[in-house]
Amino acid sequence: DFIKEVSGIRVLEKQLREKLNLDHVVVVPGDSDELPWVKQEMGRACVHYLKSILVSDSIIAITGGTTMAAVAEMMTPLTGSPNCLFVPARGGLGERVENQANTICAEMAKKAKGDYRLLYVPDPLSEKTYQSITSEPSIIEILNLIKGSDTVIHGIGNALTMAERRKASPEQVEKIKQGQAVGEAFGYYFNQQGEIVHKVRTVGLQLEDLSDSQHVIAVAGGESKAQAIASYFKPAKSNVLITDEGAAQKLLREI
Ligand code: G3H
Repeated sequence: DFIKEVSGIRVLEKQLREKLNLDHVVVVPGDSDELPWVKQEMGRACVHYLKSILVSDSIIAITGGTTMAAVAEMMTPLTGSPNCLFVPARGGLGERVENQANTICAEMAKKAKGDYRLLYVPDPLSEKTYQSITSEPSIIEILNLIKGSDTVIHGIGNALTMAERRKASPEQVEKIKQGQAVGEAFGYYFNQQGEIVHKVRTVGLQLEDLSDSQHVIAVAGGESKAQAIASYFKPAKSNVLITDEGAAQKLLREI
């Protein structure tokens, strides 16, 4: 039975890799919507994958969310790749402190025995504040580290769930609904075709900063996120997906 399960998972990974046109896919057994420990298993799988690609002196940019918190929880010392630096990919996006990239970044670095730098900016930002904040030397310094990161690890969320959790204004929620957004990553909201329908203005990594020379790892699972994951990968923006069986089955069956 165990062999059958493992080979079933391998088939899912291969099918997803082909469907979403990715370099690497890891599917962990179970559905994190139903079993909370499945999220930790995704975290463990992410740490395992990270160790296979990291080199010393890497800069790793990470986002927030409960899945990223699980990655931090499962992190172990990165002994094979010394001097790694962790940075938050973007500002807080209105999340509670435990879900913010800054908090998770510090925790992850501590467990990895690496270093970290934080990004202290209020957000979302008005155009005027955005311009002045991005001309502050200390902010420019950290932004350069973020934009020069060689590895990015991020979550993907359901559009409306994320808008609500981040206390988006009624106007923003309306825009997200009108645009029929289904997925969210990095503060960008995507419709089913993968088009951006809304974007939170904050400093840090912008979608256009992601490049082929980076390892960009998405970690997201649960049957309820299948549509969100598919929307984010429409124009492939990351090359690796760590997910669970719940999301994988649904994505392959219905989307
Ligand atoms: O941007 C996506 C969200 O951070 C995902 O949050 O992992 O708590 O579902 P979550």
